[in-house]
Amino acid sequence: MTNLNRRDFLKAAGVAAAAGVVSGCVQSKADPLQTVPKRQGKSVIGLIAPKMDVVRVGFIGVGQRGYGHVKRMSHIDGAEIVALCDTHDEVLQRSANYLAERGVKAPALYQGSELAYREMLARDDIDIVIISTPWRWHAPMAVDTMESGKHAFVEVPLALTVEEMWQLVDTAERTQKNCMMMENVNYGRDELMVLNMVRQGLFGELLHGEAAYIHELRWQMKELEHKTGSWRTEWHTKRNGNLYPTHGLGPVSQYMNINRGDRFDYLTSMSSPALGRAAYAAREFEPGHQRNQWQYVAGDMNTTLVKTVKGRSIMIQHDTTTPRPYSRHNLIQGTNGVFAGFPNRIALEQGGTKSFHEWDEDMSAWYAKYDHPLWLKMGAEAERNGGHGGMDFLMFWRMIYCLRNGEPLDQDVYDGAAWSVISPLSAQSVANRSESVTIPDFTRGAWESAKPLGIVGT
Ligand SMILES: NC(=O)c1ccc[n+]([C@@H]2O[C@H](COP(=O)([O-])OP(=O)(O)OC[C@H]3O[C@@H](n4cnc5c(N)ncnc54)[C@H](O)[C@@H]3O)[C@@H](O)[C@H]2O)c1
Repeated sequence: MTNLNRRDFLKAAGVAAAAGVVSGCVQSKADPLQTVPKRQGKSVIGLIAPKMDVVRVGFIGVGQRGYGHVKRMSHIDGAEIVALCDTHDEVLQRSANYLAERGVKAPALYQGSELAYREMLARDDIDIVIISTPWRWHAPMAVDTMESGKHAFVEVPLALTVEEMWQLVDTAERTQKNCMMMENVNYGRDELMVLNMVRQGLFGELLHGEAAYIHELRWQMKELEHKTGSWRTEWHTKRNGNLYPTHGLGPVSQYMNINRGDRFDYLTSMSSPALGRAAYAAREFEPGHQRNQWQYVAGDMNTTLVKTVKGRSIMIQHDTTTPRPYSRHNLIQGTNGVFAGFPNRIALEQGGTKSFHEWDEDMSAWYAKYDHPLWLKMGAEAERNGGHGGMDFLMFWRMIYCLRNGEPLDQDVYDGAAWSVISPLSAQSVANRSESVTIPDFTRGAWESAKPLGIVGT
């Protein structure tokens, strides 16, 4: 190729890339989804909202998950439930009845249309909004919440696409509002203990983590009109990748200081065949049933590998279809040893109770030495109030504590975006023979100087 030809070729390739029409290996490098948009406001790392004496709470979505949230929030000192919104009258009344039985002041109720939540957001007596709706509503509702001057607390995943993640980051930065994805697993006793162990250097330098959401949920396909399976099942016909990455990944990310000294760089992803949902439908539904007409495309097991800029690796798996025991893996490997969950076990070269060739599965001594200060303070009350072994209550308690005491939240919009974006990007990689995909830096460089999450003891 002459210089001239080469210049023309590169120019043409540049135009094609900008138009998003290139194919093959150039595609991921020129992917318009990977360009970092210009910041519209200022970073919300360490954002501290003005102290609130009482935190006034509104809820959007009080179905399976949201009802539990309403119940738990009604037991938290310093939180007042002001309003509830749901399109389904039955579940709205269920929450209202629960609060009435507890003798709590009756909240205002919003219903009647899919946008009725905006009437609730127009109120000026709400500080934070808890969003527990189907996935497609998370981003628009969180954006509307922040635009209305309130802090958004969103169920997992934070959002569904790269564009939505940026929209949430940009809105949080422009409005200076919190947008926290409520990753409850980060408040589990074991995850908190492992975070404490990591911070105390028990595993040496961290090298590798493993995270998962392996939870057989085929039975949700029988939820047709309402409840989780009525909308979640369809995602198995739409996206072949990791549909639900954050439960295992949130804790591993906190162990590794992701967005606080390290960050995700790129991923590669592979899916197994998608067989289990169709087989279940054939077994459990009439031949003409909608569940038998859908084509399930999400591979039963998806495996994604993430590389961080510091060179660490993370394996993330997703499988809600095959018959097997539950696991989030919760594995962290360092130069001095390893912790793994499901079941909990530990092996260390220095400081262990056994040779590192053998797992120590008796956690009692480890809990005694390394239980997280937050668990020591609130664990008993959290277990009493329930919700996945206490993690749900502890998360709410901690959110309200931070807001009332002028402390930054433990999870910010950058965490939620980084952990959730694994879903669309894993699908992109799967669709391209596992080609690596760059993971956007939603902090726009601030990860390098951001401080690691502290061990909180208050
Ligand atoms: N963190 C966890 O451990 C955990 C556990 C379960 C579910 N979740 C998450 O919680 C969210 C809700 O899941 P779920 O199981 O409660 O589902 P669900 O279907 O039981 O509840 C969703 C509710 O949202 C309501 N809704 C839908 N569109 C609405 C709208 N436009 N305005 C107001 N209300 C609307 C529905 O009527 C329903 O009551 C999902 O994001 C899910 O991933 C998280």
